[in-house]
Order: sequence, then C-alpha cells, then structure tokens
Amino acid sequence: MLRYWTAGESHGKALLALVDGFPAGMEVDEQAINVELARRQGGYGRGKRQQLETDAVDVLSGVWQGKTLGSPIALQVINRDYKLERLKDLERPRPGHGDMTGAIKYLGSIRGVLERASARETAVRVAAGMLAKQLLAQFGIDTIGYVTELGGVKITTPSGDVATHRKLRDDSVIYCLAPERNQEFIDLIDDAGERGDTLGGVLEVRVEGLPFGLGTHAQWDRKLDGRIAQAVMAVQAIKGVEIGLGFEAARLPGSQVHDPITFDPARAGEASLGYIRPSNNAGGLEAGMTNGQPLVVRAAKKPIATLRKPLESINWETKQPHRAQYERSDVCAVPAAGVIIEAVVAFEVAAALVEKFGGDSLIEMKARYDLFQQLARRDQPPIESTGGS
Ligand SMILES: Cc1cc2nc3c(=O)[nH]c(=O)nc-3n(C[C@H](O)[C@H](O)[C@H](O)COP(=O)(O)O)c2cc1C
Repeated sequence: MLRYWTAGESHGKALLALVDGFPAGMEVDEQAINVELARRQGGYGRGKRQQLETDAVDVLSGVWQGKTLGSPIALQVINRDYKLERLKDLERPRPGHGDMTGAIKYLGSIRGVLERASARETAVRVAAGMLAKQLLAQFGIDTIGYVTELGGVKITTPSGDVATHRKLRDDSVIYCLAPERNQEFIDLIDDAGERGDTLGGVLEVRVEGLPFGLGTHAQWDRKLDGRIAQAVMAVQAIKGVEIGLGFEAARLPGSQVHDPITFDPARAGEASLGYIRPSNNAGGLEAGMTNGQPLVVRAAKKPIATLRKPLESINWETKQPHRAQYERSDVCAVPAAGVIIEAVVAFEVAAALVEKFGGDSLIEMKARYDLFQQLARRDQPPIESTGGS
C-alpha cells in the first residue's frame, strides 16, 4: 500500500513527508522534484515569502545510490524562514481560516492552528507527488496541471498533447494554457491586490497513458474517484472537485453525457487497448476504475482568506468587534494550487497502480503490468494453474 503523511509547521524548522510502500529499484530524480517545488512557489500573485525561500528536497531515507529501496522514504524541505519560537499569537481570528475554530477545538492558541493549517505544508505534498509522478513515468503515464479559470475569467483549453500543453503552461505567468493572455491576468491580479482583495480559480489535472483497471468498483473506499476526490478536497482552500463533466453532467440528458464505445484493432497496443471513446465526459473513470481514457479532474479554489482590507472579526481576548488580523499573504495562489493538485492526483494514481501491479519492486510491477496488458488484449491464453497439492 503506497501512502504518505506529512509533518511540520509553516514557520517551523522543516516540513517532512514520510512515503511508505514505494517500490524498490526506481531511480529518483531529485532535481525534477526541486523544479516542481520552485513552480509551487511561483505563479503571478504570490507574496514576499516565496521570494525569501527557495525550496529544495532532501531525501533522508529509503534511497541508496540513487535508487529506492522499498523502505520508507523520508523527504525533508527546510524552512529558511524559520521563526516559529519568536512569533506571537494572533489577536483577531481571520474569517475563512481555521483560526477561531481550531483555537476552540484544541483549547489553545490561534498560532498553534494556523501554522499547521497553512498551505506551506503542501511543499512536501508536492515532493511526495513528484516522486509518484516519476513512478508513473516508468509506465508511460504522464500528468499535467493547469489553470482553467482565474478570478471568474474562463480560459479555454486548446487541443494538443501533454508536451504541447506543458510548453504553453510554462510560458504562462498564471500556469494556464493561454500565455498570450499574460498581461490580462497580471492586470487582473494587480487590480485585486490594489483593492486589498484576493482571487480564486479553477485548476484542471489530466493524466494520460493510464491502463484499464486502476481502482475498483468492489468496495467504496477503494474506488479511485473517491480517493482522488478526498486527496484533492484535502488541499487547503479547495471547495469543489469534479471528474470529467462533473456538475455539468447533472444538467444534460444521458445521451449527451455518456461516452460511446468503439474498437480500433490498430490501436490495441495502446493503453486504451483499442477501445476508443469519441468523447471523454466520464473523465477516464467508470465505476471507480480507470477506463483507458485520460483522467480529467478539476478543483475549485476559493480566494485567499487573509485580506489586506480585512473583514469584520473580534478581538479574541475581549470579544469586542475588530477587523481581522492581516499577516503577510498572497493575493492569488491559484497557479501554485495547480502544481499541488497535480501532485496529489499523481500520488493517488500511483497508489492505485501499486495496488494493481504489486509494490515490492519496479521490475516486478513492470512484468505484471505487461502480463495484464497481454491478458486484457486477449492475445494470450490465461495462465494455467501451476498445480501443486
Ligand atoms: C498554494 C496555496 C497558498 C495559500 N496561501 C495563502 C496565503 O498566503 N494566505 C492565506 O490566508 N491563505 C492561503 N491559502 C489558503 C489557506 O491555507 C486556507 O484557506 C486555510 O488554511 C483554511 O482552509 P480551507 O480554505 O481549506 O477551509 C493558500 C492555499 C494554497 C493552496
């Protein structure tokens, strides 16, 4: 079972991820993880803190001579902005944060909650997700995340493959697929910042090259759509998750929602096994299992809750009305959220891949993957029992 946990506070000494159940024998590219960590800190609209820190991953365990061992992998990202011991508590809880609710729940301080609730923690979720992405690449599976809406402005997705889309996204200041609109979004974000306001948006993640059968229909907590929804919803500030047509499917008749099935023997060697779907409204999942089509997941991110022109709140001690506290904050973190959502989706898909093809070693996984593809294509008779008494 491939899984992970994280630890660490926003201004604490370091953030940690413990990745358990990762197969042995995969070469780890730390630099590729660092590239994604840098992308998480970027995108137009981020605050000063992102310029203070340059995140880098330190692999503390589970890797020897560049390859995974099959033992737990501990990933560390040092906080260069460590100052937790010196920080004071907040006096006025911020609406939209866990400040007040957490302080009541834990009978403690606001600082004690916000330090862990902060999205700084996602640095190590990205590190774990990018490790997972490297595993997916071993099976020809590729992921991409990008922004499809920002501050209420929709951005259409042009046709094209992942490589083409990655190039467009990397030329965009907000990590969308329309770099020619850079100035429009810079102006939109600057305008919100000048008004002391913040902006949200919508992210889309696509996973291509998936085999059939990751996840299962057989038990509710092993359905891949459910696992993805939980992982995405558990990212700070995400308030909605859609797969494929998502909410739009509820508004259309069945004939316009479901994806017809055709078969092209010439494409039987592909991940789709030749079962071609002219549309992909299901977003690559039927009955909680991948169906050979690209996985398409969308997430809605709310605007940042820390406002330079704060909303009404109270003084936590006196309970007297007072504007909420302002702490250094982003105006728009929608681009960064795209990096995070891609990472958490990649991790869930990799976990389902390990579940289907066994997780001890990469060599074994590949052999079982190839065998499954052969059996599913039905171009080889099922294996006979080896017998034994
Ligand atoms: C990439 C990213 C960066 C964020 N940066 C900030 C920030 O600078 N200031 C802030 O108030 N909230 C920020 N948030 C959102 C809060 O962490 C989040 O809204 C808060 O913890 C409450 O959780 P909830 O929105 O999931 O209910 C950020 C979220 C993400 C995904």
